[in-house]
Amino acid sequence: MKNLDRIINNFKTNKGSLIGLLQDISDLYGYLPEKVLEEVSSKLNVALSHFYSLATFYTSFRLEPMGKHHCSICVGTACHVRGATMVVESIERELNVKAGETTEDGNFTVETVNCLGACALGPLVVIDDDYHGNLDGRKAIKLLKKYED
Ligand code: FES
Repeated sequence: MKNLDRIINNFKTNKGSLIGLLQDISDLYGYLPEKVLEEVSSKLNVALSHFYSLATFYTSFRLEPMGKHHCSICVGTACHVRGATMVVESIERELNVKAGETTEDGNFTVETVNCLGACALGPLVVIDDDYHGNLDGRKAIKLLKKYED
């Protein structure tokens, strides 16, 4: 039995929540592929729009695949007052994306977050699991180059 069928059967057997079901699908694929949601919707007889309303309400779900590198830019208060807006603008311009998007080459997914718990280092960017503090626009662009293939 393929993994998706196992997830669906587990949901039916345990009468699980739809959020849990979406989480399992997300864990399997790394995001919520449209075709998979259509298949699950059909097999469970749950409106596809219901899945999309959950998937778009909870920010932990993604409807697009993640890029190779995950770039989180902190725009929390401490980082904001130290110039996070310039860091966001520089990264968006350099990569030609808006926060929440993935670059065309699939190398970066960029997002803004509200606090990464290291406020003294602000403005702060986390790429994958690496923290980079005291950034400005120029330093941020230089930093991105380290993650380009
Ligand atoms: S506000 Fe940026 S790390 Fe806390």
